Amino acid sequence: MASCIRLVLLLILLCSPFITDAVNRDNFKRCDQSSFCRRCRGMESGKSPYQLLPDKLVQNESMIIVDLFNKDTGITYVVQLITLKENTFRLHINEKDPLHPKYENEYALHDQPQTVEMDFVESTAETITVTKGENKAILYINPFKVELYSQGILTISANARGLMRFEHLRTKPVKPEDGNAEMVRTNNTTYLSDGADNDPGAWEENFKEHHDAKPYGPEAIAMDFSFPGSEHAYGIPEHADSLALQSTKSTDPYRLYNLDVFEYETNERMSLYGAIPLLYAHGKERSSAVFWHNTAETWIDILSSADNNVVESIVNFVSRSIKKSQVDAHFMSESGVIDVFFMLGPKPLDVFRQYTVLTGTAPLPQMFTLGYHQSRWNYNDQDDVATIAESFDTHDIPLEAIWLDIEYTDSKKYFTWDARKFPNPLDMIHNLTAKGRKLVVIIDPHIKRDNNYFLHNDATSLGYYIKTRDGKDYEGWCWPGASSYLDFFDPKVVDYYTGLYSLDKFHGTTNDVYIWNDMNEPSVFNGPEITAPKDLIHHGGWEHRDVHNINGHMYIRATYDALFRRSGGSLRPFILTRSFFAGSQRYAAMWTGDNMADWNHLRVSYPMCLSVAISGMSFCGADVGGFFKNPDSELFIRWYQAATWLPFFRQHSHIETKRREPWTFNDETTQIVREALRLRYSYLPLWYTLFREHEINGYPVIRPLWTHYPTESETFIIDDELLLGDSILVRPVFQSSATEVAVYFPGEGKVTWYDIDTMQAYEKGGYVKIPVTIHKIPVFQKSGSVVPRKMRIRRSTVAMRNDPYTLIIIADSNGRASGNLYIDDEVSFEYRHGKYLYLRITLDSNKIVSTLIDKLASYETQSWLERIDIANPPQGIKSAQLESHSMGKVTLETTYNPHNNVLTIRKPAVNMGEEWTIELLQ
Ligand code: NOJ
Repeated sequence: MASCIRLVLLLILLCSPFITDAVNRDNFKRCDQSSFCRRCRGMESGKSPYQLLPDKLVQNESMIIVDLFNKDTGITYVVQLITLKENTFRLHINEKDPLHPKYENEYALHDQPQTVEMDFVESTAETITVTKGENKAILYINPFKVELYSQGILTISANARGLMRFEHLRTKPVKPEDGNAEMVRTNNTTYLSDGADNDPGAWEENFKEHHDAKPYGPEAIAMDFSFPGSEHAYGIPEHADSLALQSTKSTDPYRLYNLDVFEYETNERMSLYGAIPLLYAHGKERSSAVFWHNTAETWIDILSSADNNVVESIVNFVSRSIKKSQVDAHFMSESGVIDVFFMLGPKPLDVFRQYTVLTGTAPLPQMFTLGYHQSRWNYNDQDDVATIAESFDTHDIPLEAIWLDIEYTDSKKYFTWDARKFPNPLDMIHNLTAKGRKLVVIIDPHIKRDNNYFLHNDATSLGYYIKTRDGKDYEGWCWPGASSYLDFFDPKVVDYYTGLYSLDKFHGTTNDVYIWNDMNEPSVFNGPEITAPKDLIHHGGWEHRDVHNINGHMYIRATYDALFRRSGGSLRPFILTRSFFAGSQRYAAMWTGDNMADWNHLRVSYPMCLSVAISGMSFCGADVGGFFKNPDSELFIRWYQAATWLPFFRQHSHIETKRREPWTFNDETTQIVREALRLRYSYLPLWYTLFREHEINGYPVIRPLWTHYPTESETFIIDDELLLGDSILVRPVFQSSATEVAVYFPGEGKVTWYDIDTMQAYEKGGYVKIPVTIHKIPVFQKSGSVVPRKMRIRRSTVAMRNDPYTLIIIADSNGRASGNLYIDDEVSFEYRHGKYLYLRITLDSNKIVSTLIDKLASYETQSWLERIDIANPPQGIKSAQLESHSMGKVTLETTYNPHNNVLTIRKPAVNMGEEWTIELLQ
């Protein structure tokens, strides 16, 4: 009874308006409260007991296999070093003869990584060297360490500091029958010699009122990585922190353990909802990355050059040598094996591609997903939905979808409707689709334990729930109260679940209903750290501890299959997820969860999205306006202006917040928000092209400045600006009452940046103070680029599908520019069968030319070319002549505006599917 009351209080608190602005840190572990983190972090460097046994070296085309020996414990391991496509090596280490199999994840990688043949392998008494093209890996025998060289330069080393730890599996000491407090070790197990077995949490662990039984004994897996020549580390999302990772020398390590952190704070290394164990290192000369392929709880220490000890600095001072910068990282996981991918770059875009070659790219989303989304917890009923949709039209504001949060269901039973509030969901949906809009509904992974709920009854009788370690259905608390959780590691469960979305099962839905998967960390209100206990058992007998970080990924993987199946494979699924892991880009967009209506949270949305974007997940957004609390109109406006340039654009807010649709403040606010949204829609052709290019080559859609300016050290810590592709530079306003902002113009003066509204040119590189008003934030287009836009903004993207295009061309100092445009039907997978147009548009020698990049592809578009603006055009142009197959030669009208130095060509009117040339005539 007492625990029931506690739970009710907890639920009230979670839904309550008593927002305190501060995370309750007591709910979440620090490293020193976690036994394996303590054991790993407590290690001394320079004392590695591991040694290779090279007489047992086995070699095939793309792999060497060699035994590794721990001198302290006498345990033997097997090391595999594999050469992969795209400048990548894989290092795999497992126990040679473990007590029982160790978990190895198979869902993050998108395919079996493609191996390449090694050039040669050389062994000496000290080393084994594997060479592949310009890369080589040197494995040092004693103590064991691995060095990875790219183009002859040492780029990454593993275990250089000797912090590798691979605790072999061991049996639990038994309690003697005489009641003696001292545990007795069994004969057949070797224990660790560093005293770690005596750590109070090694064999079982408590956190608050929660007990972790650890029936399989303790494990810990760790490795240090050094990146000589690198100045900063990036990646390992999700954290509400700067993009360039901070030193953890005097703080806790960064933590990756998917958690529902209520009222999370910024400038924090605490875990959040998603985890991608991918770390980039970047310096002026090169970029590289390490992908730590492990799905268990992981902590990562980061040290930068600035943390190097005093002795080293003195030596450097005395010898007057210039100290090379270096980043050091230390990954520490609770279980699994060591499985690491080393990506050797050398340029940032190379590393981004190398990572997505392993984990896949995001499939091109439907165009509507890139427009504007309106959500709140909750739109009350179907009339409310109709009124909101209509108000968007009345206010002439574009909208793609209305979102329904948990209250649409019958008592939080997913796949049902509250029949009182939503008596005719199909009517409601048709009302939206008639205007080209969609509905998105939430489906969460907790299943209400209610004997009148078909899903609970099915899951119980079929044995589909995650189990406790004594084989019972696990029961936790979430929105519906007592809940159980489907086990998405079981293929039978996935099959059952995907069937639930079929239109004859999920009544009241159509193919225009898309899905929001929330709470999939999983969030368990009464569980340890608000999640599932680690000793739960999944399909195959694996403990939750082994798979926790990929739990949410398994859920969206199933939802993706479900939506794919629902439309018979014809429509591209759309799913928004809160939890994610490496590879989740293949299934869903993500958002940054329950942020706050304050300036810090607006500011952190940029580094958070940049961090996931470089980690494969470009499709990122933050709740516009902040989830908790109420923004004032200034913050609200600035949030829209910033979100215009993030990939996923949705307003969403907590149930206790005031209504905040774009027209709820005052006329000026509505007008400015409308302008921001119209701007977003006008750039959708660019967004769409970039998403397609991401799918093809893995490049992020939004990028940190160092992506394209890798030798410009000033860019390395900039995360209040971003690049959209390589041509648009955005610097939002992140402060109240700003009258100017300092914009960093990358390119060292070799690139000129043009204000997208005024076409004012900024030629000087570096920081420039740019005046701002409430009406706009600074956004610039790069010289030498061509950006496609659509200028007729309508109520939704569906209505804009056949609209004409405008090209914004900015000539560089040589009179040249280029850019791409991708066009297809915006909804289906037909593009995978060659139904698309991919155009290269160039300006050179006074000729603008549009050519098909993929000559074999074709798509019948009704869109035509409406206008071309050329900034910094060639001098003295009087007219232009278009030439195309269907139109022959046509003379076009041009006008020149001396105030902004822009030449405009009106109505070329050529169909976008045709190749054409426009000659500028003097
Ligand atoms: C938590 C999500 O983060 C939030 O966006 C949502 O509104 C609530 N769950 C209720 O479903």
